[in-house]
Amino acid sequence: MAEYKLLLEHTDVPEYRTLHGYLARGGYAALNRAKGMERQAIIDEIKTSGLRGRGGAGFPTWIKWNGIEKEKTRPHYLICNADEGEPGTFKDKQLMESTPFLVIEGMTIAALATQADAGYIYIRGEFVDAAKSLRAAIDEAYAHGYLGQNILGTGLNFDLYLHMGAGSYECGEESALMSSLMGERGMPRLKFPHAPLPTVAGVWDQPTIINNVETYAAAVPILAKGGEWYVTLGANTKNSRGTKIFSVSAHVNKPGNYEIEFGTPLMELLDLAGGMKGGALKACVPGGSSVPMLNAEDCQNAILAYEELWETGSMVGSGGCMFLNEHTCIVSYTWRTAQFYAMESCGKCTPCREGTKWMLQILERILRGNGQPGDMDLLMEITKQIDGRSFCGLGDAAAWPVAGAIKKFPEEFEYFIKNGRSMVDTPEARAMAPRWAQRAFSAV
Ligand SMILES: Cc1cc2nc3c(=O)[nH]c(=O)nc-3n(C[C@H](O)[C@H](O)[C@H](O)COP(=O)(O)O)c2cc1C
Repeated sequence: MAEYKLLLEHTDVPEYRTLHGYLARGGYAALNRAKGMERQAIIDEIKTSGLRGRGGAGFPTWIKWNGIEKEKTRPHYLICNADEGEPGTFKDKQLMESTPFLVIEGMTIAALATQADAGYIYIRGEFVDAAKSLRAAIDEAYAHGYLGQNILGTGLNFDLYLHMGAGSYECGEESALMSSLMGERGMPRLKFPHAPLPTVAGVWDQPTIINNVETYAAAVPILAKGGEWYVTLGANTKNSRGTKIFSVSAHVNKPGNYEIEFGTPLMELLDLAGGMKGGALKACVPGGSSVPMLNAEDCQNAILAYEELWETGSMVGSGGCMFLNEHTCIVSYTWRTAQFYAMESCGKCTPCREGTKWMLQILERILRGNGQPGDMDLLMEITKQIDGRSFCGLGDAAAWPVAGAIKKFPEEFEYFIKNGRSMVDTPEARAMAPRWAQRAFSAV
């Protein structure tokens, strides 16, 4: 298997960012097909395709679309989650920068299927270039009847707004995102079954769909070529269909976004990214920094698909795939990851607010050479107290990488605690470690 460029096909073509360039390469064929279909038929096409949300959870897209379509209350809202805060993931950024019309067309198809009145693209504040590209595309789409009143004679009135976030990881969590969009603090809200689903009462208490950038973009080829065709991609997997973009980074020769068919072996993704740089493969974090890491042995058999990767001990997540070489000190890597989640915890619930800081303190004392004999057990215990007990998924996201690293590389933690220094005794490992921990890396 090689790269399968469905969404990334035209990313190198600058004109693709303009309506003219987009139309010249088959753009809006999908909406033109969809406009001749019944609303339910569009949703059925998405159902047939097997499309699952690309934001991390892999939830079937058609269920959300079907749910909101049935709601009689108006208006209906669509949200595109373009917050992309998970470390290691940068696919949505590229899609928005280089293929803005793909995102807009996908959202318009969703609007047609669900009779949405308005859409919001909630975009990470740092994504200045992506916002610029989207803004220009939205203006052009309005000017040529692809947004606004009676789009392409369909009778659909759909307005699309770009909303810049302020760069908070928590604001990618859907209920916190909606709070932020409404001008409130970006904190999560109670979820179903304790509160209505967003499709019943989402933003401004109106029926709302929230999908990831890549999910909306994938609706375009599905409607253009049909769900029956899309489902043939990834057919050798248990329940992962179509293509998925993986952002490959860390110690590889050619970091970047690679779109592959589900079912592709992880090691082929590494080949696509030019192989390992600076040393042999030691570990891989395949789905963004929150997912558990795999060791080199796991990587040999890992398959990029939802269920298959889960069985190997990790997750597809948001597709931020980091390959780490033999010079990586896993303890120092884990500290850095834990630092991110501790800083980004919104503070609403105790397990996450306190637990993330506590894990960070323990990891820091290990890195400073002051680890205590019970620290590994204590860390594992804290991860168990956070995982599944926090108010939203940020707690889980903070617990999994710590638990995963200890499970896969216990000897490195043991060595560090016992000897007060890293087992990875190379200048490269030292260079990767924080300045205040240099003493623990003896290769000076
Ligand atoms: C802490 C946290 C951060 C998240 N960040 C993002 C994000 O940046 N982008 C995204 O699409 N989904 C993110 N999600 C998942 C969203 O809550 C939601 O599941 C997703 O937007 C649904 O879209 P999808 O079904 O198309 O994947 C995050 C979840 C959590 C718990």
